[in-house]
Amino acid sequence: MVNLAHLLTDSVHALTVQRPIRSFVIRGGRLTTAQRRALDSLWSRYGLEAALAPAWDQVFGRCAPRFVEVGFGNGDALLGLAARHPERDYLGIDVHLPGVGRLLGGLEARALRNVRVMRQDAVEVFERWIPDASLDGVYVWFPDPWPKKRHHKRRLVQPPFAGLVTSKLKVGGLFHLATDWEHYAGQMLDVTEHQEGLVNLAGEGRFAVGQGERPPTRFQRRGERLGHRVWDLMLEKRPTEA
Ligand SMILES: C[S@@+](CC[C@H](N)C(=O)[O-])C[C@H]1O[C@@H](n2cnc3c(N)ncnc32)[C@H](O)[C@@H]1O
Repeated sequence: MVNLAHLLTDSVHALTVQRPIRSFVIRGGRLTTAQRRALDSLWSRYGLEAALAPAWDQVFGRCAPRFVEVGFGNGDALLGLAARHPERDYLGIDVHLPGVGRLLGGLEARALRNVRVMRQDAVEVFERWIPDASLDGVYVWFPDPWPKKRHHKRRLVQPPFAGLVTSKLKVGGLFHLATDWEHYAGQMLDVTEHQEGLVNLAGEGRFAVGQGERPPTRFQRRGERLGHRVWDLMLEKRPTEA
């Protein structure tokens, strides 16, 4: 039998070697028996490789509103949203193998058909696979904060990423971000407000009141246990002048 977990690790490793600055570090992390079983038996049903994947409509067998969660972690938020919105299709992207296994198990347990999973750098997925102006929403909830100044260059939410996400959103599409790190919240606000084509729904310089449809996530709960505040930002894609 093909050792799927090794295959996946190798493909991410290959990407890591080519691009020096990434927003993640692949950590070993032990797989539980259930996660390993889910990876072995369910990846062929829910998993996609950006380089090989067919068009989105073919993947889901329909044309429905499309949402992407970048860095789904343990997958709980994605599972909740997908169960609540069977009329939408979701793509979850993360590189952390135990979380991917956990999400796959959750998808099967809830018999969800409207989610697919990619285990790759989200930047690569957006660049290679997602067509321009095709998404109704992109969620980046509690991305790794990289709190040390010398690591800020690793933060995902920077101008090139905001530009990439904006190019993939339809007009009217939503870019929803959240963090429990004040410095990163300020960076997110600055980066997204300077991004042409995005309008802050809370008004310039303001964070959202409330968390919209974002379910609480594992890292939100962790931050709250540490006494952190949470900042949400919701931006809408607007047409740009030709
Ligand atoms: C701090 S965790 C937050 C997980 C989840 N959103 C939550 O709130 O519980 C950040 C996640 O983003 C993933 N990640 C970081 N950079 C990524 C990238 N470029 N592409 C895909 N996933 C990424 C990490 O593997 C990790 O699972």
